Amino acid sequence: MLAASSTSHPSLDPAILILGGQSYPLPVLEGSEGERAIDISKLRDQTGHITLDPGYGNTGSCTSAITFIDGEQGILRYRGIPIEQFADNTTFTEVAWLLIFGHLPSEAEYEEFSRDLTRFAYLDEGMKHQFEGFPRNAPPMAILSAMINALSCFHPELHELEDVDQFRHAAARLISKIRTIAAYAFRHSRGLPYIYPDPALRYVPNFLHMMFSQPYQQYLCPSLVRKAMNLILILHADHEQNCSTSTVRMVGSSGANLFASCAAGVCALWGPLHGGANVEVLEMLERIHQGNISAEEYVKLAKDKSSKVRLMGFGHRVYKNFDPRAQMLQKVAEELIPLISGDDPLLDIARRLEDIARSDPYFIERNLYPNVDFYSGILLRAIGIPTNMFTVMFAIGRLPGWIAHWWEQHQAAGGRIARPRQIYTGNRQTDYLRLESRGAA
Ligand code: CMC
Repeated sequence: MLAASSTSHPSLDPAILILGGQSYPLPVLEGSEGERAIDISKLRDQTGHITLDPGYGNTGSCTSAITFIDGEQGILRYRGIPIEQFADNTTFTEVAWLLIFGHLPSEAEYEEFSRDLTRFAYLDEGMKHQFEGFPRNAPPMAILSAMINALSCFHPELHELEDVDQFRHAAARLISKIRTIAAYAFRHSRGLPYIYPDPALRYVPNFLHMMFSQPYQQYLCPSLVRKAMNLILILHADHEQNCSTSTVRMVGSSGANLFASCAAGVCALWGPLHGGANVEVLEMLERIHQGNISAEEYVKLAKDKSSKVRLMGFGHRVYKNFDPRAQMLQKVAEELIPLISGDDPLLDIARRLEDIARSDPYFIERNLYPNVDFYSGILLRAIGIPTNMFTVMFAIGRLPGWIAHWWEQHQAAGGRIARPRQIYTGNRQTDYLRLESRGAA
C-alpha cells in the first residue's frame, strides 16, 4: 500500500521475503525523519499473497509531508514546527494556513485568508431552512456532517478544484462555514434565534459570538477565552493518518469532492474511540463527581476486560509515551480555569484519576497516558461550551488537517482509489435453494 515516491532511498538494502522457498526482494523506503517502510505495492502480483493488518497498526497508507509524530518520544510537529511553539500568540487561522499550504503565511497571505474567512462566514439562507427540519435533540455531529455535505449542493462550482486559487477559496469557505454551522446547530438545539456572523470579529470571537450572543446582548469574548479556544483548535488541527483523516483520504480517493470527503470525516470522528472520547471523559468525571462511583472504582472497572469500560481520555494508538497535546492542555487548564470560571471540581477529579492510573502497573505496562481528550473537555466546559458540542469543537479544529490531506492526495501524481483487500472466511461455493425447498427455520 505504500506508494513508491521520492522518499525511496537507493542505498537502503531491500527486505527479503522468503515464501514457498522463493525469495522476493522488497524495496525499503525512508521518510525524512528516518521512519522506514517496506514497499509491498507489488507483493500480490509477485507472490499471490496479500498482507493482513486489522486496524492498520503496521500499514502506511500514503506518504505525507504535513504532520510528523514520534509516539515513543511524544513529539508532534506541524510542517516541521514542534506543537509547543504554537502555545503563545498563534492563531488557529495561521496554523490552518500552515497545514494546508505548507508554510507559515506572510502578513499579506494571513490578512487575505482572514478576510476570506470573514466574507465566507454566511450560510445561504436556504441552508437555514435545513436546520429547521432537524429535531431539537438531534446530535450536533449528525447535523454538522449533513450540513457540510449540503454545502456541495450550494457550491457546485467547487466540486472540481483544479487550480490553487479555486482550492484556497473552497478551503476558506469550509473553514469559515463549519463554525457557522456548528453555532446554528447549537442554537437550534436550544430553540434560540440564529445569530449572524459579525464581520468585525476574528475567527474565534466570531464563533463564540454566534454561539452565545443574544439579539439584545452581544457576547464579548474575554482575551483568556480567545487564547484558550485558539489553543484547543490548534492542538486538534492535524494528527496525520488518524481514523477521520484516513476516512477523508479514503473518500477523496474515489474523486469525491472536498465537502463530501470532510462530511465523511465528521462521521468517523464522532465515534467514542476517536473524537467522541471528549464527551465520554466529561461524563466519566461527572459520574465520579456525583458520587455514583469513586475514581479508584472507575480505574478498577477500566482494567476489568469483562466490564467493557475504558478509562476515557487514556491511551493512544501512536503515543506510547505522553501525548504532548494533553500536557499542553493540562497546563492551560490549570492556569486558565481558575481565572475563567473559578475552581472546577472536575479538574481535581481528572488529576486524581491521572495519578491513580499512572501509578498502576496495568497502565504503566501498556504505556497508557492521558491523551488530548482528557483535559480538553474540562477546558471547553469552562469556556461555556455544552458537552454535546465537544466533538463538534474537535471537528472545527481538525478541519484544516482534513483539507490539507485531501489536497495533498488530490495533487499527488499517480493516485489510486483506496481499495484494501480481505481474507474471505465465509462459505465455500454453495447452491441457491428455492424458498419452498428450505423447510422451517
Ligand atoms: N482503558 C483501559 N484499557 C485500555 C485503554 C483505556 N483507555 N486503552 C487501551 N487499553 C488497553 C486495551 O484493553 C489493551 O489491553 P490488552 O493488551 O490487555 O488487551 C491495550 O491497552 C492496548 O489497547 P488497544 O485497544 O489495542 O489500543 P488501540 O491502539 O487499538 O486503541 C485507543 C487506542 C485510543 C482507541 C484506546 O486506547 C482507547 O480506547 N482509549 C479510550 C478512548 C479514547 O480516549 N480515545 C481518544 C483517542 S485520542 C484522540 C483521537 O484520536 O480522537
